[in-house]
Amino acid sequence: MHLSISKKILAWYKKHQRKLPWRKYKSQKDRHYKVLLSEFMLQQTQVKTAIPYFNNFYKNIDSIEKLSKSSQSRVNKLWQGLGYYRRARFLLETSKIISKKFNLRLPNNYTELIKLPGIGDYTAKAILAIAFDKSEIGIDGNVRRVISRLFNLKNEKMILRNVEKLKVKKNSSSLMQGIMELGALVCNPKNPHCAECCLKNLCKFKDKTSIYTIERPKRKIKKLNACIYVKNKKILLTRKNKFGPLKGFLNVPIFENTSDNLQNDLEKFFKQKVKYTFLNKSKVSISNLNTEINCIKIYNYKNRDNNFVFLTNKQIQNNFKSSFLDKILKRVEGI
Ligand code: ADE
Repeated sequence: MHLSISKKILAWYKKHQRKLPWRKYKSQKDRHYKVLLSEFMLQQTQVKTAIPYFNNFYKNIDSIEKLSKSSQSRVNKLWQGLGYYRRARFLLETSKIISKKFNLRLPNNYTELIKLPGIGDYTAKAILAIAFDKSEIGIDGNVRRVISRLFNLKNEKMILRNVEKLKVKKNSSSLMQGIMELGALVCNPKNPHCAECCLKNLCKFKDKTSIYTIERPKRKIKKLNACIYVKNKKILLTRKNKFGPLKGFLNVPIFENTSDNLQNDLEKFFKQKVKYTFLNKSKVSISNLNTEINCIKIYNYKNRDNNFVFLTNKQIQNNFKSSFLDKILKRVEGI
């Protein structure tokens, strides 16, 4: 039963797959690089959004070797606009490890792949399947939805068990991409096109009006403060923000709450007494659901910190544009 399903998916994928830039390659080496780059981009970005970024990145850096020799600022620049900038840092780190430790060859086994920065269980399995045709299936949102509907499953263990049975010896690359493609084009979250699905006669998703949900563990929300200080129409910025996603990028100073007392936390961060008010609509979401950012306006600040610079909004827009900074600065009047 499961293998006939896999065959149906393979036949459907052969006919209906989208032409995506990471699906055509000049050589195996090119395939490995394109899969690595696309999987990093697609971790938190939709296919439609990722395509132009992928093409531009590839136009500028077309191999693991060139990537491993690139500077972080060049990689960041090519990543600019995609968000989740930690991926750009991990991608570069990973390429450097592949260069040094593996003589520029992308590892073809799970044990080594999972150790690389930015590669988790899903990405390791996706790389093994898509780049090496290994008998693996990474489970992302699309795969999870297709499989849970198809077999009417309600928990993760059952999904894993059924995915295991779908694995094929040959064409694993097409099978994994086929399941994802079915999830993206036919078995979509809100309006699945069941009538035109290649699995319609086998599928157990009978209650077609219900929306698929499986409980996912909730993670703790990280509370951050973005501080806006403006002097003579110039905005205080730093590259030294310590926390994850925006580390290393020019941004307004951001720090994590360490207590329930914001005034004390601010003094500790700026190493002086400062006054503050909350900006209008002070909460900003970053493209990471587990982070909540409060925007606060700072007054009476005397800059004694070498890590801080002042730039006008125009300078920021021309040189350091980021959608996150835009969101914050939109809330500030008169700059
Ligand atoms: N999402 C993650 N990887 C993908 C791929 N290779 N093709 C389409 N969607 C994806």
